[in-house]
Amino acid sequence: MPNTTHTIAVTGVTGNLGALAVEKLLARGQPASQIVGLARTPSKAAALQAKGVTIRTFDFEQPATTLASALAGVDFLLLVSSSEVGKRAAQHQHVIDAAKSAGVKLIAYTSLLHTDTSALTVLPAEHNATEAALKASGVPHVLLRNGWYNENYESSIGGAVAQGKLMGASAEGKIASASRADYADAAAAVLLADDAVAQHAGKTYELAGDEAYTLAELAGEVQKQSGKTVEYVPLDRDAYKAALESIGLPEPIAEMLADSDNGAAQGGLFDNSKTLSALTGKPTTPIAETVAATLKQ
Ligand SMILES: NC(=O)c1ccc[n+]([C@@H]2O[C@H](COP(=O)([O-])OP(=O)(O)OC[C@H]3O[C@@H](n4cnc5c(N)ncnc54)[C@H](OP(=O)(O)O)[C@@H]3O)[C@@H](O)[C@H]2O)c1
Repeated sequence: MPNTTHTIAVTGVTGNLGALAVEKLLARGQPASQIVGLARTPSKAAALQAKGVTIRTFDFEQPATTLASALAGVDFLLLVSSSEVGKRAAQHQHVIDAAKSAGVKLIAYTSLLHTDTSALTVLPAEHNATEAALKASGVPHVLLRNGWYNENYESSIGGAVAQGKLMGASAEGKIASASRADYADAAAAVLLADDAVAQHAGKTYELAGDEAYTLAELAGEVQKQSGKTVEYVPLDRDAYKAALESIGLPEPIAEMLADSDNGAAQGGLFDNSKTLSALTGKPTTPIAETVAATLKQ
């Protein structure tokens, strides 16, 4: 039986992972009345509100004092990392300060796989800063270091079928991705564990898919399922960045994606600990399932 006696707040409930985390908390037995959905734009959270979840305004850019009042009565907080790359370390610091002053007993933070030793160079900095801020705060916390989402490849899968090629710079690097729903379920499992603070505070979980694949193997899977020829086009970091910019991606996004692929070539998106499926109690979603779902859209 889950421990449902605490009030649990989730940030970013208007986003994909935050909304799924609330759904997984509900599915694991947490009453809606003991879930607080935190949203920069509360009007976007109407569906969760209709389920009985309390929605409170929560903008990471606001000072900790404003945010602390939104955390009144909250026992555990799932801090879903902000999507505003470049502003995140400061934003997360505001949230951590607010949680401390509101007396939150446990913060679960969605960090990045192997962030402290990562072969990626763009994304880890803000996650490392947040992990350090959590440590400095003294608030009990658990690090959910999420690997890549299967869903990151949805647009590449569509493009691969249309153009007959899938580009990337991850060479033979294996990518152990899982679905957002898998990561959301792991967060819910941690927060609803019996004596969650004793069981999980101070822990770092490296979360990734049970299975791993190269981008060439992903191209092969798309070809198999679509019946269309899909060739993998291996590029180096700079050529991949240029290709992404040529199709209209802003430079910082192209840089981040090319850097992540380059890091993947060095094993930066790989993990075979199966910690994610151990936490949820079920296998992670295979990339083949995401390919099938994407092709149906
Ligand atoms: N592991 C991976 O492969 C991967 C891939 C992409 C992203 N990520 C990270 O994982 C996080 C969750 O992923 P996702 O797919 O759920 O992202 P998402 O759908 O873009 O959701 C991001 C959430 O952050 C909220 N947010 C952004 N800035 C905010 C602010 N200043 N104050 C309060 N809330 C703010 C957004 O609110 P609004 O609705 O108001 O915009 C939204 O609810 C991302 O934010 C990013 O840090 C990981």
